[in-house]
Amino acid sequence: MFGAIEEKLKNSEKIVFVTGAGISQESGIPTFRGKEGLWRKYDPMKLATIDAFYDDPKLVWEWYEDRRRNMLAAEPNPGHKAIAELEEYTKVVVLTQNIDGFHQKAGSTNVLELHGSIIRIKCTVCDFKDEIHSRFEKFPPRCKCGEILRPDVVWFGEALPQDVWSEAITHANSCDVMIIVGTSLAVSPANTLPIYAKQNNALLIEVNPESTIMSADMDLSLKITSANALPHLVSIFKRLT
Ligand code: APR
Repeated sequence: MFGAIEEKLKNSEKIVFVTGAGISQESGIPTFRGKEGLWRKYDPMKLATIDAFYDDPKLVWEWYEDRRRNMLAAEPNPGHKAIAELEEYTKVVVLTQNIDGFHQKAGSTNVLELHGSIIRIKCTVCDFKDEIHSRFEKFPPRCKCGEILRPDVVWFGEALPQDVWSEAITHANSCDVMIIVGTSLAVSPANTLPIYAKQNNALLIEVNPESTIMSADMDLSLKITSANALPHLVSIFKRLT
């Protein structure tokens, strides 16, 4: 499957993964832009922007709470688990656009959540922030300070957390292999990470059943699903030990 680049993989010092909704698709979590994508059914401008939230915090909360319940009830799949297992063989960093926490649940210990986390909430005014695994019944939930709480996610038009983004660029600039898994690369600035890696002569591998805008720039573009492809990656390293 990895053919000629197996040698480079074996000699890699640090593998950076850039993951998107596709890696959680085989855990039963819908993607955004595929055939069954969320943005085909819902208008992101009504659910995933700060203006939409202040226009109708109850609607936005109900939508996120529904997604949060699905994610809390779902499990990581062999794709997430393979990335976690790779840590036994080489340095691995995961830069994920996903908010489902599946990489951490699968055992990955070096995960940067570029778009936040659906498990975490924060106050719209004070500096309260916490992980919440229980269900909300009343929407929008209120902070102890009396203001409304929001999901700790990055909405369209919002900046990524500055510390997370600058660390992500540092990793993209200092890896010898970048594996881009389950993302359409439609959203910036996450979609610039492979460009940083390429500028530093990293080997680029894409795992996606569909082509993306950067497929032609990849050293290897595997048109298969992540739960099928990524365990093979682990077997390459396993053979080494
Ligand atoms: N294995 C690998 N890739 C898959 C699989 C799978 N089983 N199923 C679908 N894919 C691919 C699709 O072909 C598509 O290219 O995953 C990609 C998912 O793309 P999007 O739905 O656009 O998701 P993503 O790239 O993560 O979106 C980026 O957009 O809406 C915002 O904040 C949201 O983080 C999200 C960002």
